[in-house]
Amino acid sequence: MAGGVVIASSMSKVYPGKMTLYVFVTCLVASSGGLIFGYDIGISGGITSMDTFLQKFFPKVYYKEKHTLSNNQYCEFNSQLLTTFTSSLYLAALVASFLASAVTRTFGRRISMLGGGIIFLGGAAINGGAKDVAMLIIGRILLGIGIGFANQSVPLYLSEMAPAKLRGMLNIAFQLMITIGNFIANLVNYSTNKIEGGWGWRLGLGLAAVPAIIITVGSLFLPDTPNSLIERGHNEQAMSMLRKIRGTDDIKAEYDDLVVASKDSQLVKHPWSTLLQRKYRPQLCMSLLIPSFQQLTGINVVMFYAPVLFKTLGFGNDASLMSAVISGLVNVIATFVSIITVDKVGRRVLFLQGGVQMVISQILVGTLIGIKFGTTGQGEIPKTYAIFVVVCICVFVSAFAWSWGPLGWLVPSEIFPLEIRSAAQSINVSVNMFFTFVVAQIFLSLLCHLKFGLFYFFAAWEVAMTVFIALFLPETKNIPIEEMGLVWKKHWFWSRYVNDDTDV
Ligand code: BGC
Repeated sequence: MAGGVVIASSMSKVYPGKMTLYVFVTCLVASSGGLIFGYDIGISGGITSMDTFLQKFFPKVYYKEKHTLSNNQYCEFNSQLLTTFTSSLYLAALVASFLASAVTRTFGRRISMLGGGIIFLGGAAINGGAKDVAMLIIGRILLGIGIGFANQSVPLYLSEMAPAKLRGMLNIAFQLMITIGNFIANLVNYSTNKIEGGWGWRLGLGLAAVPAIIITVGSLFLPDTPNSLIERGHNEQAMSMLRKIRGTDDIKAEYDDLVVASKDSQLVKHPWSTLLQRKYRPQLCMSLLIPSFQQLTGINVVMFYAPVLFKTLGFGNDASLMSAVISGLVNVIATFVSIITVDKVGRRVLFLQGGVQMVISQILVGTLIGIKFGTTGQGEIPKTYAIFVVVCICVFVSAFAWSWGPLGWLVPSEIFPLEIRSAAQSINVSVNMFFTFVVAQIFLSLLCHLKFGLFYFFAAWEVAMTVFIALFLPETKNIPIEEMGLVWKKHWFWSRYVNDDTDV
């Protein structure tokens, strides 16, 4: 079958190089681009459940929530207007990632990160000072554009900077920052909810400026990657950068491979149509399916709606926000599991183990809720029972945190050859944003219609994606990024697309 582990060890070139302090610090700074994404995911859910925010901007929603006495737990929080507000950001990010593709390829990865940080900062300022819904939406669109740029460029940057043997670990710093941003947002939600006077939401939205400043200032000081420097004709600079980040003068083999990759890249004038060529079919499929599957795990149901979900389980306001803080912390801690293991056990093992764990925990959550609320959505959940449901949700979150979360960003960023890397990464980001948008849009009405079966719906997707990985994803650990074409050549299925006549 896919048998990637054998491939990885038997054919990968080994370039000299170690973890230098320089590469560590650079990757750490670049990965902070994940903070803005994570913070926003966490803050949106908290803000939209705050009474003072709703009263000011969405009075009708507020009125309806307070005056509609629904005894159907599944349908209690179904407001299309609010979800549209939340998900407008993802549409902006989707469009922006295509623009970012051209910027990243032509001007380098760093400029995209810098641009992303500045635009996000503008969005945070407008949102923090918002006086009406128009300001809120404009701010949100800017936040989305910033995220589109950062998510397009940061994973590529990390994968190109890292030595092959540590690429997984350094790239997952991006996901770690997403989870930290998210966790901090949950804490902010918890604290600002207690602020008297109704300006807590302003603080939550305005504080998004902090992660934006970190990535903006950080990227002013970052160097560009050797791959991107060569691609743009700065060969001398690239060579000294390679020496610096690899901590050795013995960089000739790697440098030569980068130059070859860059020559191929220069021949490609239209990366988008190139991507459609038969020989890039494996990469095209992965750039479409990995992000779709990542979102079809249902993770953002927990990330956006954790407080709502926990309220449905019968927790009070405070306890719901606290439970979101707890699941956020689990998310951060569990990410370390993948950081430590990804370059040792490989990507496939994490994907497969995480997939199975997600299926089991989602089925448990669905069944537990089904037993108490049935199909009518009526009933009460005793405290200890509700706590057990939260534990199951945490088991699900942790599985995601060491599998589809980090690998959904890592794997696409390492499998695209240089000539289509930037374009394919935009597809990855835009598909990810599209499905984030779709899940955010339809979750509340799906919950209302599918009831506890919604959790089985996601579990079914998790079965499909786990089988997909088992059959179609070759192992990519430890393989130098510009050598990656070989894994498809040896793969039982993909080799028919990437045969020996085609250049890889
Ligand atoms: C996903 C996000 C998700 C986050 C949770 C990321 O990898 O792309 O959609 O909210 O993980 O930690």
